[in-house]
Amino acid sequence: MTAFVTVRFQGPGGGPQAIEVRARAGETIVDAARSARVEIATTCGARGRCRSCRVRIHSGAIAPASVQDVVRLGSEAVREGFRLGCQARLVGDVTVEPMPPEDERGHQILGAGAAQARSGAAHGLDSGVEKILVAIPSTARRGESDHDALLAALPAGTSRQLPLGILRTLHARIREKAGLVSVTTFGERVIDLEAGDTTAHRYGLAVDLGTTTIAASLVDLASGESLASSAALNPQCVHGADVMSRIAFAQAAASHLQQLRAEALGALDEALRDCCEHAKVAPAHVYKIVIVGNPCMVHLLLGIDVASLGTAPYAPVVKDALVVQALQLPLKAAPRAEVCVLPAIAGFVGADTVAGLLATRLHESEGIRALVDVGTNGEVVMGNRDALFACSAPAGPAFEGGQIRQGMRSARGAIERVDGEDDVRCAVIGDVPASGICGSGLIDACARMLHWGVLGRSGRIRTRELSRLPPALAQRVQRGDGEARFVLAWAEEGGEDIVLTQADIRQLQLAKSAVYAAIAMLQAKADAAGDRLERVMLCGGFGNYLDVRSALAIGLLPPIAAQSVVYVGNAALLGAEMALVSETERALAGTIAARVEHVALGGSPAFQELYVQGMGFPVRPAALTRSEVARAAGS
Ligand code: FES
Repeated sequence: MTAFVTVRFQGPGGGPQAIEVRARAGETIVDAARSARVEIATTCGARGRCRSCRVRIHSGAIAPASVQDVVRLGSEAVREGFRLGCQARLVGDVTVEPMPPEDERGHQILGAGAAQARSGAAHGLDSGVEKILVAIPSTARRGESDHDALLAALPAGTSRQLPLGILRTLHARIREKAGLVSVTTFGERVIDLEAGDTTAHRYGLAVDLGTTTIAASLVDLASGESLASSAALNPQCVHGADVMSRIAFAQAAASHLQQLRAEALGALDEALRDCCEHAKVAPAHVYKIVIVGNPCMVHLLLGIDVASLGTAPYAPVVKDALVVQALQLPLKAAPRAEVCVLPAIAGFVGADTVAGLLATRLHESEGIRALVDVGTNGEVVMGNRDALFACSAPAGPAFEGGQIRQGMRSARGAIERVDGEDDVRCAVIGDVPASGICGSGLIDACARMLHWGVLGRSGRIRTRELSRLPPALAQRVQRGDGEARFVLAWAEEGGEDIVLTQADIRQLQLAKSAVYAAIAMLQAKADAAGDRLERVMLCGGFGNYLDVRSALAIGLLPPIAAQSVVYVGNAALLGAEMALVSETERALAGTIAARVEHVALGGSPAFQELYVQGMGFPVRPAALTRSEVARAAGS
C-alpha cells in the first residue's frame, strides 16, 4: 500500500503563494517540487554535494537529516529545520519553504587542508583518514633506510610505527613508480601505502549490525557522499530470532561462539563487497568502518564471550568505544581498514542506540523527547540536553511475527496493513495472496478489531452479539482449535485462511505492554508525564512500518498527539555514517554514552505495575510520577 502525503510549498517567509501537491512517501522534497512545478535548483544533480536545493521545514514530519545534510548545512542549521531538498525523504504531510541557494562553502572546505578539516568546522569532513601523495627522491634513498626516507617525506608528527605488512612491501612499492607513493593515515598512524597516485580513493563503510538485519552504507570520505548501501538478513537468524537465543546458542558448545563470529564476519564482508561492487570501488580502498549494534551482536562479531549478557545483571564484557584493525577481525576484503565500534550504554542498550542519539541530536533538545526502537528487544531513550535516561524493553518476538500462529517477518506475502469499515481490507507486501501477518499488520489488525468492537478492552475476542456487526465482519469471528479467532484473509483470495487467534492477541498484549511500560518508566524518571513529553521518535526497521494511529490505539505508545510521533528511519545507521565522516562526531558518541543513565527494569515493582496496566486495550493509565516510582522501587 503506497502512502501518499501532502507537501505544501510555502513562499519565502511564509508568504501567500503556497502550492500543495500530493506525493508518495519516500520521495524527496525535490521530487515533490518537480511535480508541483516549484523551482528548486539541483546544481549537483541531487547528489547531496552542493547546497542549491536548501529548504526549510516549517511543520510536519520528515525523515531525519542525512549525513549530507549535516556536512553541507551544519548541525545548527539542521536543528533549525534546514534540509537538502534532494536528500529529505517524505514520511508525512509537511510544509516546506524553498530557500535561495547559498554559496558553496561545503565544497570549499572539502578542498581545504587536513588541519582545517580536523578542526571540526561545522561543515567540514573530519573522518580522520587522510591520503597524501609523497615523492621520495632517489637521492634520499641512497644510504638511508626506506623507512627513514618515507618518514622524512611525511608530515611531522606521523608515527614511526609502520605496520609490518607495509614494511614487508615498502622496498618494492617505493621503486614501483619512481618514488611516488600514496600514504594513508588514520590519526597519526600510517595504515596503507600504495605505489603511484591513488589519493582520489578513500572510502568508509557504516554498518548497523542488527539482530535481524545488517544494513551498510558506503561513503566517499572525501566528499561525504553516500555511494551505495546494502541490507541483508543477519545469517545468525537461523540460531534464533532474538538476542537471548543467540546467547544460548553461543553457550551450548565451545565452537558456537566462533561459528557466530564467522557468520557475522561473513555478512560484514559481503556487505562491504556488495557496496563496493555497486559503487565500482576497490574494497581495499575502504579505510574506516564504523560499526554499531546491540552489545550481543558487537561481542559476537569480535568473538568476545557473551555469557555475562545472558544472566543478571546483564553486564557486557566491554562497553567502551573500540578501534581494531580489520586484519585482526579478520576482515580480509579491506585489510587496511580501521574498524571503529561505537560505545554502548548497558548490556541491552548498545552502540546502535548511541548512534541513534547522535543522529537525532536528542542530547541537544530543549524539550523532552523519546527515541523508541520497537523490536524484539526494544530500546527507549528519553530526555533532553539536561538529562538522558535509557532502558531496554523486553518485548519478545511478536513484533517480528514470532509466537504468532501465522506470524512472519515483513516480507513478500505478509499482511502489513489492515483497514476497512464494513469489512476487512488488507494490504499484502508484494501484492500477492497473503501467507501470514507481520508486526505492523498485527498492530493494525488489533487497532481495527478494537474499532469494530470485535476485541474487548481486556483483549478478549468477542464471539457473542455478533449481529450488531456488519455481516462481512461477523462471519470472520469464529472458533477453532478451542479458541476464538478472527479471519483476516480467506483462502478463496488465493492463499489460505489467515487468522488472528486469541493466543496471538495475548502475545501482542505482552509485547506492547513491555514497550508501553518502558516508556512510562522513563516518563516518570524524566518527569515527562503528559504534555511534557514533546515528541516520540520511532526508529529502526519496524518503527518505519508502524502506523502511528494504530500504535496509539492499542496502547503501544503512551497517550500523545499523533502528530508528535515521527518516524526517524534507521537512525542507528545514520549515526554510524556521521561517526564515519567525522571524528568529532565519533568522540561525541562517547560523551553522549557517558551521559545516559541506564534504568534497569528487571525486578522493578514500578515497572511491573506499569506492565500490568499496559496489558489492556486501550491503555489509559497516567504515567507514574517520579515520587511514585521511587516509592514503588523502595517497596
Ligand atoms: S542538489 Fe545538490 S545537494 Fe541537493
